[in-house]
Amino acid sequence: MKNTTRPISALAFSASALRAFALCTLLGLTLSASAEVVPPGSADEIRGRLEPFGALCRAGSDCGQAAAPVSSGPQSGEDVYNQFCFACHATGASNAPLFADSEAWQPRIAKGMEVMVSSTLNGLGLMPPRGTCMSCSDDELGAAVQFMVDQVP
Ligand code: HEC
Repeated sequence: MKNTTRPISALAFSASALRAFALCTLLGLTLSASAEVVPPGSADEIRGRLEPFGALCRAGSDCGQAAAPVSSGPQSGEDVYNQFCFACHATGASNAPLFADSEAWQPRIAKGMEVMVSSTLNGLGLMPPRGTCMSCSDDELGAAVQFMVDQVP
């Protein structure tokens, strides 16, 4: 009965196939290990390059915000003027009294600061309330009026 040897040779075959497979895997591993590319630069430089462009900042993390300018303090009168009042007072738009124009400002200055500030807060004629700066505090608007008055010769 020759057939009885068959299972043994099949086993032997599969064992050698397994060995060949193992050899290939080993060879592949060795190959891929030696083919590993070492990128140039220090670990920090590499990390920097891998960093996604415009990385997300998750809530609760610092993300370098401490370095960003925080405009929490009050704006100066000059800042407010340059952002909001300038539009009319530097150009005379809506017939606004021109910046640093003595003739235009003297009669207004004569009314007193309080009146001028309240005109600014509430609006006057063609000047909209708060001189269009809705985010400005009363103090910031007062400082802007003071800045404008200070520039009148
Ligand atoms: C849209 C145009 C416009 C903007 C913006 C504007 N003004 Fe005026 N402003 C005027 C006009 C016009 C007058 C004159 C109003 C009148 O007498 O009828 C005036 C008048 C004033 C006066 C004189 C008020 C008075 O009682 O006589 C002050 C002070 C003043 N503006 C401050 C400011 C400040 C401060 C800002 C910015 C925060 C500002 N204005 C922004 C148009 C503007």
